[in-house]
Amino acid sequence: VTAGQAVSGNTPFGAGLRDHFSLEPGTRHLNHGSYGAVPKAVRAAEDAWRDRLEANPTRFFAEALGPGLRAAAERVADMLGGRGQDWIFVENATTAINAVVAGLRLKAGDELLTTGHVYGAVRNTLNFHAARAGARVVEVALSMPATGEEAIVDAIRQALSPRTVFAIFDHVTSASATILPVAELARLCRERGVAVMIDGAHAPGMLALDVPALGVDWYTGNAHKWLFAPRGSGLLWTAPQHQATTHPTVISHGLGRGYVAEFDWTGTRDPAAWLSVPEGIAFHRALGSQRVRDHNRGLALAGGRLLAQAFQTELAAPPAMLGSMASVRLPAGLATEGLRQSLRAQDRIEAVVHRFAGTGWVRVSAQVYNELGDYQALADAILRRHLANK
Ligand SMILES: Cc1ncc(COP(=O)(O)O)c(C=O)c1O
Repeated sequence: VTAGQAVSGNTPFGAGLRDHFSLEPGTRHLNHGSYGAVPKAVRAAEDAWRDRLEANPTRFFAEALGPGLRAAAERVADMLGGRGQDWIFVENATTAINAVVAGLRLKAGDELLTTGHVYGAVRNTLNFHAARAGARVVEVALSMPATGEEAIVDAIRQALSPRTVFAIFDHVTSASATILPVAELARLCRERGVAVMIDGAHAPGMLALDVPALGVDWYTGNAHKWLFAPRGSGLLWTAPQHQATTHPTVISHGLGRGYVAEFDWTGTRDPAAWLSVPEGIAFHRALGSQRVRDHNRGLALAGGRLLAQAFQTELAAPPAMLGSMASVRLPAGLATEGLRQSLRAQDRIEAVVHRFAGTGWVRVSAQVYNELGDYQALADAILRRHLANK
């Protein structure tokens, strides 16, 4: 049974769908966002690619890999917009961002612009390359909870300076789980001649996307979070005018032979995850892509509201800026140290507990195998601990 045949637009969402995944029973999995979860049917397709490879590795790398990757890239383009030749595969969003930032040819005094909600690994990447060149990273503080798109756009407008050469914005932020108005931010940057990259680590599968329509220079996303693909399937879209100067972090045989050739071969590796991205897409489409997005967004919002009500706190973003995740402020006075571990060990619930903007938050994900009872169980477990602490 292929991934596209394993489920249909009538397959009910909720705990019953867990049978299509290998997630351990007895645990409530409210953290799809960090590492995804791969459907069994997609894993079977990945195994089938490995079987083909192992039958004759020499023939596979000589004849099957190149066309296989390009066929997969066409499926990505069909799902996320643009042309197959503009999409290449990388390990993950972190790798894509490293490749782009390393290629910027920064000079002393240049400014790289991002927000205070930037993902930690990306902050490190910016700081590393800026420091080498004597450039500077400007982080625009965003309020938490977010106050709305207009305030964010205004803050970025004010922070763009004649020295800004590059900007990177999250499509969906990690800690605050907020959808940023990236098309509008890209427009501001374009007006000032600033190259802009969108970190869409969470976006493919969570949001309806037409990447070229966003008007950005580079867009990275992960297929291994919300698009049901195996881990290690990061994606990078590069606007045609930047392809000649965008290189992988690992230089190999493809150098000088163009963007696709450079990225499609960065040394011997297991390509099964990349080749299985179309199966993740097929699973998503078979369930009904719009149906999946609507379900997840509705459940993230309902689950987030349930938690905020239980804690008498608030969501980190206005409902209109939420996708398939929600961050909720934890009750005041609740010690967050060890909370994530004790939720895992004692309550068997996986959720992200973190400190951000001086206070504790819990981030929950909503995927097709979740249901409202999962969030109620999390609320009960946290409140139990809160009351015991008092
Ligand atoms: C906004 C953002 N950027 C980048 C990443 C990194 O993704 P990866 O570990 O796949 O490189 C994440 C991961 O959660 C993220 O949330």
